[in-house]
Amino acid sequence: MAAAHDGQERSGRAERLAELRAMATRYALLPLRIFLGLTFVYAAVDKLADAHYLAGVGDVASFYSQTRAVRSSSPVGVLLGPALHAPTFFALLIAFGELAVGLGTLFGLWGRLAALGGALISLVLALTVSWNVTPYYLGNDLAYLLAWTPLLLAGTPYLSIDGYLIRRAERDRERGLVEGQVHRRSLMDGGIAAVALGGGGLLAGSLTATFGRPKKTAAAIPGTTPAAPAPSPTAGGKASVAVSAVPVGGSAQVADPSSGDAVYIVQPKEGQFCGLSAVCTHSGCTVNAPKSGQLYCPCHGSRFDAATGAVINGPATKPLPRYTVTRNGDRLDLGPAQS
Ligand code: FES
Repeated sequence: MAAAHDGQERSGRAERLAELRAMATRYALLPLRIFLGLTFVYAAVDKLADAHYLAGVGDVASFYSQTRAVRSSSPVGVLLGPALHAPTFFALLIAFGELAVGLGTLFGLWGRLAALGGALISLVLALTVSWNVTPYYLGNDLAYLLAWTPLLLAGTPYLSIDGYLIRRAERDRERGLVEGQVHRRSLMDGGIAAVALGGGGLLAGSLTATFGRPKKTAAAIPGTTPAAPAPSPTAGGKASVAVSAVPVGGSAQVADPSSGDAVYIVQPKEGQFCGLSAVCTHSGCTVNAPKSGQLYCPCHGSRFDAATGAVINGPATKPLPRYTVTRNGDRLDLGPAQS
């Protein structure tokens, strides 16, 4: 009697364990899905709420400047031309694309399509922003690209709108609906959910972009001192700024007339001027304006000495290229880059 009872208990335990294992397998991708969904929504809102992202040519932290900075080092650099011609359109396309991918992933609506969109965005970023990152494992876009793969393969069939549609389609088949009807019903209801979700995302994103962006002030990017807007090169093809625009320890931003790259004219000590390229030598991101004697790269955290351009900490290993700066009365003229 006791032996039979023990046997029943053992088989009950084994069943519960098997159920737990099956449940763990079923929901194995849920943490990854939540992480990717939240991250893409956050990345989109962060871009739309950033005063610099849509600022355009005169701002080193803008989508335009960042794209321009990576163009020469990217293997798909030639394809970036349209993005430089219509930067606002492409900047919004990326931000709203991330939002759509994030919401689709979180709610599990057309999960494979959302994962494909996420993988494509990550691939573009891996081939541009992260392309020159060394060692390669510091370039996080490659990791994101691979992280989308399981969701691309498995979809989002659990705790999701897709899951609901799958179960509803099974019930429809049991009710005797033909396959074409079942398919049409799923597609239509998925479409309605997509319009509702996309409409909500579009509205929230547009409101964020319209009202959520602070004015471009010193506090707009934490820990940075924004430079003055880049003046245009003078008629002779030279870039220059007023001496008064470059305080000791501060900087003014100009554009290299030959390449168009952003350059900071700095005055680390009274009367001592030089130019430092704003293009990070690690992977081509634009470094922030000098603060507390350092230039910080927001992409992977490299820091450079604001007096010499030397690397303080990596992953960058090469210093920022220097430019000569000549004082001409009350103006500072940017000279050629020093080799
Ligand atoms: S681009 Fe990687 S640290 Fe600057």
